[in-house]
Amino acid sequence: MEIRNIGIIMNGVTGRMGTNQHLVRSILAIREQGGIKVSDDLILMPVPTLTGRSENKLRALAEKYGVENYTTDIDSALAKPDNHIFFDASSTLLRAKFVEKAVKAGKAVYCEKPTAVETKEAVRLAQLCRDAGIKNGVVQDKLWLPGLRKFQMIKDEGFFGDILSVRGEFGYWVFEGDKYDRPAQRPSWNYRKEDGGGIIIDMLCHWRYVIDNLFGKVKSVSCLGATHIPTRYDEEGKSYKATADDSAYATFELDNGVVAHFNSSWNVRVRRDDLLTMQVDGTKGSAIVGLRKCWVQSAAATPKPIWNPDIDQPIKFFEGWQEVPDTQVYENAFKIQWEMFIRHVALDEPYEYDLMEGAKGVQLAEAGLQSWEQRKWVELEKLS
Ligand SMILES: NC(=O)c1ccc[n+]([C@@H]2O[C@H](COP(=O)([O-])OP(=O)(O)OC[C@H]3O[C@@H](n4cnc5c(N)ncnc54)[C@H](O)[C@@H]3O)[C@@H](O)[C@H]2O)c1
Repeated sequence: MEIRNIGIIMNGVTGRMGTNQHLVRSILAIREQGGIKVSDDLILMPVPTLTGRSENKLRALAEKYGVENYTTDIDSALAKPDNHIFFDASSTLLRAKFVEKAVKAGKAVYCEKPTAVETKEAVRLAQLCRDAGIKNGVVQDKLWLPGLRKFQMIKDEGFFGDILSVRGEFGYWVFEGDKYDRPAQRPSWNYRKEDGGGIIIDMLCHWRYVIDNLFGKVKSVSCLGATHIPTRYDEEGKSYKATADDSAYATFELDNGVVAHFNSSWNVRVRRDDLLTMQVDGTKGSAIVGLRKCWVQSAAATPKPIWNPDIDQPIKFFEGWQEVPDTQVYENAFKIQWEMFIRHVALDEPYEYDLMEGAKGVQLAEAGLQSWEQRKWVELEKLS
């Protein structure tokens, strides 16, 4: 049995995503399960090196989780032939600088979305990787969430007939950070445009790959953004001006005629099944797609509502839906994508979710911002 070590530089790993999703729930979880078992003769074992700016933070993280390697000297980590993959979960505006370094060092590149805040820059980075012939990938985690996988499964089985429309509702209340017992649950840079923040750049990146993969290719967008909460409080409790959008109301036209509308907001209180729900209506059936669950109603089970606000609603609408059962144990979505990328790097297995796909997300976000600014529909140019 060969155990092949795959060295992974994890940059910006002390952040929220880097620590929780990528280090603990993905790379360390893969190590704990004994690596990626490819066959009876081969196991791929990820070996992380934690990198970042603060030696103390890195040491504390490494000690907490028993990780051997950490350094603030990213160049020395990149110079080691044992490190095969460079992963970046630092802030968006730093992505280009780190990707360029990794490409120069000839490492495979994997990074968080968005890869940039402008399409031109995102495409440039994708092309840089292509020209250098290095393997590359962008996090598109939502695709492996159980709710979305259940949707894809029943769609492939023909449950919906023709899909007509999709209504996405995403969001929750993010505390402003001024109450001592209600700290903000997102980093303050999310609300500052000058630091790469804003819900349009954050969420439209996700909606691009979700829609493209599940419902049809996005053709054009109309988007209205808003900064509903003008002042928030940062990690030190200091007030700052929110310079980025915190809500977006966006409509997408797809090439197959499906209309998708997604509301995204950090200023809504939740009265729905999950933080993200997508209602999909088709001629033969409908679904509510949540992060982990999916509920369906077939044409045959569709009730006949009659408009009469003078009486209490006699139909119990929520009772007319059936949950699609689990058919397996669903692994963490980030971990699944990590395993695919590691196999792509080590075994040359195909992998679709590269930086050019990531650039499409940035393109949709930039088009959304342009639509808002100019109050008009924006058509998307083809990227490939
Ligand atoms: N896939 C998803 O669902 C998802 C969700 C949230 C955020 N993100 C993306 O992940 C990235 C990180 O977001 P976050 O919420 O974890 O933010 P965060 O602020 O918690 O983390 C950013 C990290 O980068 C580090 N950093 C800053 N400058 C650095 C430098 N020069 N060198 C190395 N490290 C540096 C910071 O110290 C921090 O640890 C962003 O690009 C964001 O868009 C993705």
